[in-house]
Amino acid sequence: MSGQNLRPRGLIVAIDGPSGAGKSTITRHLAALLDYVHIDTGAMYRALALAVSRSGVPADDDAQVLAVCQRSTVAFCRKQGQICVTLNGEDVSDLIRTPEISLLTSHIAGMRGVRELLLTLQREMGHDGGVVLEGRDIGTVVFPDADVKFFLSASPEERGRRRYLELKAKGELVDLERTIAEVIARDKQDTGRDHAPLRQAEDAIAIDSTALSIDQVVERMAGVVKERQRSAGPAAA
Ligand code: DC
Repeated sequence: MSGQNLRPRGLIVAIDGPSGAGKSTITRHLAALLDYVHIDTGAMYRALALAVSRSGVPADDDAQVLAVCQRSTVAFCRKQGQICVTLNGEDVSDLIRTPEISLLTSHIAGMRGVRELLLTLQREMGHDGGVVLEGRDIGTVVFPDADVKFFLSASPEERGRRRYLELKAKGELVDLERTIAEVIARDKQDTGRDHAPLRQAEDAIAIDSTALSIDQVVERMAGVVKERQRSAGPAAA
């Protein structure tokens, strides 16, 4: 397992929360606004799940799954202004977003060995600052000393509705009730696992995005980060 390092200077900003709360879009906008690097840790787990899926090893064989992950290289690259994720040099940004890969990702993300691999890589990528990392355990495990922590949530119904609209816009045949049920099932898997479960860090600022627009959330977060940058001095900007 290896990865490309991204090391500008500045604060470490952690954004955790359940799927569908708007984390990816909000993190992308916030990182662009601050001129920070966006690290989508979910995409890293997804890329490893794709490697496992392609390898054909049984998903419940921890040793074989881990061996596949250890042989894989996950990195980020930039393509036409967009951040993309690569697996062994191949851009897999679209391939990792299918429902099958989502489910397999949630499963392998519960494995201690897989988490340890990505933990090391995520710390390497973020430790110099100037980063916004999004995930489930950034403020609790990856960077418990992050300068700013947010916990972004929204009601399961709203998160399911957003996901449903997203899939429908891609032309996929989807059912709203089923999508909401899938969101709830994934929450259960993410919060109930033994290793680094999804939970809010005690010092995280909670934001409920159910009734807020993306711009409203980004604005609120940017206000907090800029305030922290001012108190940290010029090196953090
Ligand atoms: O954020 P996402 O939907 O792309 O995440 C995909 C899966 O990976 C999800 O089931 C949670 C898991 N994940 C995790 O366990 N820890 C992270 N830091 C990021 C994602």
